[in-house]
Amino acid sequence: MDLKGASPPIGIFDSGLGGLTVASAIRQALPHERLLYFGDNVHIPYGERSNAEILAFSQAITDALLAQGCKLIVIACNTASAAALKPLRERMPQVRFVGMEPAVKPAVEHTRTGVVGVIATIATVQGEVFASIVERFAQGVTVLQQACPNLVRQIEAGEFDTPKTEAMLHGWLDPMVEKNIDALVLGCTHYPLIRPLIQRVVGDGVRVIDPAPAIARRVESMLREDGDLAPADAEGSLTCWTSGPPGTFQAILDRIGLRSEAVHHAPWRDGTLTLLP
Ligand code: DGL
Repeated sequence: MDLKGASPPIGIFDSGLGGLTVASAIRQALPHERLLYFGDNVHIPYGERSNAEILAFSQAITDALLAQGCKLIVIACNTASAAALKPLRERMPQVRFVGMEPAVKPAVEHTRTGVVGVIATIATVQGEVFASIVERFAQGVTVLQQACPNLVRQIEAGEFDTPKTEAMLHGWLDPMVEKNIDALVLGCTHYPLIRPLIQRVVGDGVRVIDPAPAIARRVESMLREDGDLAPADAEGSLTCWTSGPPGTFQAILDRIGLRSEAVHHAPWRDGTLTLLP
């Protein structure tokens, strides 16, 4: 492909495969954009790591994506957004970042029972960002939060709809359904990969909320405001790098029906990363 004169790409990253749910929403909303995706599969799960470690990974990944000329960085990981978005914005004020945060606001707008649920990683539910969102948006509504340890590992292993994953979900979600939630926020970008199973476990009376389409709209409006959208005749694409095995990554792409030009291996070397074709 001749990329001379082409609009710069959008960089997207996650600890692994979860951010592909966000990449997929961006691909749908902005089909003319080139998307570069990095999944840090070798370091998964971020949700059980310290903020300092997650920030160091996020900084190095951002540097690698910026070295590819990215015009905007999407942190397609709730855990990395909670740990790294604020410090990265402070360190690199010239860079446009879009991050994830649990979609408590739409859940609060939707609820009729006055009880909503949020599932996320341990790091996300214990973080300051989550506490401040609940304080700002959930006045008068009960927010039940639940960390789901090992669910990310289960999804990375391709166990999208197995008896074990279903039993784990029942353990976390049945108590919420008994307390009458009518909205459930997916506060980790891996969870939409198993949305049909989650919906089945909570039942049709609970609205399951995935923030990915709202994130795609945010990316679009930021680029539109700055006049930086790719031209309407440009050919969009997705190219992926993973620090883990490309074969496993490709298998999940196939499974969710997302087409990538290529899946490259990008190993970490002394805390830094280079995205080579
Ligand atoms: N997709 C990440 C998130 O949104 C998963 C975090 C992890 O690796 O534990 O939080």
